[in-house]
Amino acid sequence: MSEIISLINEKGGVGKSTSAITISQILAISGYNILLIDLDPQMNTTKMFSNVDNIKDVNYEQIFCSRMEDKESVLEYISTTDYNNISILSASRELNTLIYKIYDKSKEKNIELCLRNNLSLLKDEYDYIIIDNSPFKSYLTTCAICASDKIITPIGVDNFSYDGLMSLLDTIEELNTKYSLSIEFAGIFMTRVAGRTTLFKQMFESYENMFEDKFLPVSIRNSISVSESNTTFEPLLTYDKRCTAAQDYIELVNYLGLMDNKHFRELAKYLKGEK
Ligand SMILES: Nc1ncnc2c1ncn2[C@@H]1O[C@H](COP(=O)(O)OP(=O)(O)OP(=O)(O)O)[C@@H](O)[C@H]1O
Ligand SMILES: [Mg+2]
Repeated sequence: MSEIISLINEKGGVGKSTSAITISQILAISGYNILLIDLDPQMNTTKMFSNVDNIKDVNYEQIFCSRMEDKESVLEYISTTDYNNISILSASRELNTLIYKIYDKSKEKNIELCLRNNLSLLKDEYDYIIIDNSPFKSYLTTCAICASDKIITPIGVDNFSYDGLMSLLDTIEELNTKYSLSIEFAGIFMTRVAGRTTLFKQMFESYENMFEDKFLPVSIRNSISVSESNTTFEPLLTYDKRCTAAQDYIELVNYLGLMDNKHFRELAKYLKGEK
């Protein structure tokens, strides 16, 4: 049974795509089978795997607006990548128009649960399904929230929207009540942290006070390797598995309890260069 995790924050540039890709890569290296879903028409996550010639066209309208019957019809849209254990449901510019189509259709019938239904057909195919969301708040994100078991939110040290986060927490509660779901808000973590500066310490403390146990004690340090790996279109651990940000993401994956000991041993072998 796969677990579906969404990265969401309506602030742009806080590290959603970097986190989705890096968490996926860490889990994949450890031996978990991962489906990465890119729901952002900017296609940043898809571009990371754009060396793949056979990226399949996706009929988003079918996936978001209809209840599909069998897993084969969903698998038709999923591309394998050059990276072991990582498959991708790619994004395209078409997602921009889909947002309006979903909105129109939602007036006629309730389609918020279609994506959930369709991804549930894949529950035995993948260990984790990781969804990278757009910063633009739309019905696409609502569908992704409904489909998710857990939501995690990266935030910047100085790029923070309290209202946006509160409205995300309210939306999760509303959808849980409306559809009797148990979507869990698994927490907020800081990204692009430039060392233990006074600003960092102040922000860390105020986030802790605001969000209590929902504020995760693991922060991702700023690392030049992250921007370089984006430029060379290589996932972070391929580019530099020893950089500070990679270490922090591994700690985050552990903190979130996503990896058991057996898989952690596989990751350790990779980090030591034994595989
Ligand atoms: N830990 C880090 N260290 C250095 N740079 C980082 C780090 N995390 C992210 N970045 C850089 O910040 C920029 C934004 O990151 P990313 O694309 O992951 O954010 P995002 O939340 O997905 O953005 P958007 O809202 O536009 O989708 C990128 O250029 C990325 O290289
Ligand atoms: Mg992004």
